[in-house]
Amino acid sequence: MIGQRIGNYKILEELGRGGMGVVYKAVDTGLDRFVAIKILADQLTSKPELIERFRTEAKAQARLNHTNIATLHSFEQAGGRCMIVMEYLEGVTFEQMIERRGPIPWQEAIPLFKQALMGLGFAHRMGVIHRDIKPSNIFVCRTGYVKVMDFGVAKVMGGGQSMTRAGTRMGTVLYMSPEQVQSIPVDVRSDIYSLGITLYQFMSGHVPFESDSDYKVMTDHVKTPPPPPTYFYPHIPPGIAGAVLHSLAKDPNQRFQSCEEFGKALDVHEASEKQRVSMAAPRAVPPPSPQPPRSVPPQPPPVFVPQPPPQRPVSQPPPPPPPVQPPPQRTLPQAVPAQPMYPQNLPQVSRPYAPGVAVEKPNTMQTSPSYLLVYAILGGIGLTIIVFLILLIAGAFSD
Ligand SMILES: Nc1ncnc2c1ncn2[C@@H]1O[C@H](COP(=O)(O)OP(=O)(O)OP(=O)(O)O)[C@@H](O)[C@H]1O
Ligand SMILES: [Mg+2]
Repeated sequence: MIGQRIGNYKILEELGRGGMGVVYKAVDTGLDRFVAIKILADQLTSKPELIERFRTEAKAQARLNHTNIATLHSFEQAGGRCMIVMEYLEGVTFEQMIERRGPIPWQEAIPLFKQALMGLGFAHRMGVIHRDIKPSNIFVCRTGYVKVMDFGVAKVMGGGQSMTRAGTRMGTVLYMSPEQVQSIPVDVRSDIYSLGITLYQFMSGHVPFESDSDYKVMTDHVKTPPPPPTYFYPHIPPGIAGAVLHSLAKDPNQRFQSCEEFGKALDVHEASEKQRVSMAAPRAVPPPSPQPPRSVPPQPPPVFVPQPPPQRPVSQPPPPPPPVQPPPQRTLPQAVPAQPMYPQNLPQVSRPYAPGVAVEKPNTMQTSPSYLLVYAILGGIGLTIIVFLILLIAGAFSD
């Protein structure tokens, strides 16, 4: 098939295989864009009435124009083949994510799943039931958008009955609702059940009912209470695990009645779990543990060593002074009155002396009157002693 041309489409490469045929990447030579083409297996299109049913379903899906639904471009018959031409998506399916990574952490899984809920909720409001919701039909694009694919194909095949993928066991039975198993009319709540199984597997890595026997799995859907997803993966918060179990009620009346209801329940549990985790998380800076005060030896004050200005080589002319820029005008919002940067009208406080700055202090000792008096007294005493000594010496010589 690779390199072949079917109508306007040139087949480039195989993207994957499912129960109904092979999906190829192709280029639409008329519109010059990539598309994905699912070429339906010959046995599915051998009967004209089947082809008409495919066409009817394709028309219903083509009306679903939503960010979270893969766009269906056309349903065509060319070269004796039937093919569904769809938007080409780059990314991985939920199924491929699980295969590669195992259980997807709920913090990542829930936002992706809620996108699928939005796409499916839109389809339900437009009167379209998917009937074949499973991880391989939900695509996570590289852009982060989630797209639901393959609407209504299961209806053509008879309510999502098991089909065998070449060489492997078919998975559809794992996601069938009890109504589908019992072949009773389905409504949107059948999709809710299949969504529940999908989310169960997305977060836990397991489906609730696994067996080599399709019959056993189908009976379990109808009769056996599912184990909580925490049985397989204990890190799922209880509230979210409870919402998953609620979507898996056997009685459709006991499930979420719509995708919106399912999404709101997940919102609530997601928010409360995030709050619980953020409150339980250790603070970024732990409070200091009480310790006895340590005796710190007194530190000498820093010594100011004045540095000579850097010397420029004489040969180089001094750089021109920088142009004087006017101070930038800051526009403040009108509602906020302009505040001075510092408080005004404070009492004047003498600034401490800056280190290295010589400050001239007045010499008050020379001008104070009290010091003049002391000088006079001391001078008088000294004069008296000198006179006394002269008289003493003169007396001694006269003797
Ligand atoms: N629109 C698309 N763009 C890109 N890849 C796609 C697209 N549709 C399908 N694929 C790829 O092709 C694979 C097969 O898809 P397909 O729908 O045939 O199989 P399935 O969903 O696994 O089984 P089933 O036939 O039961 O739906 C997907 O797993 C996906 O990797
Ligand atoms: Mg598919």
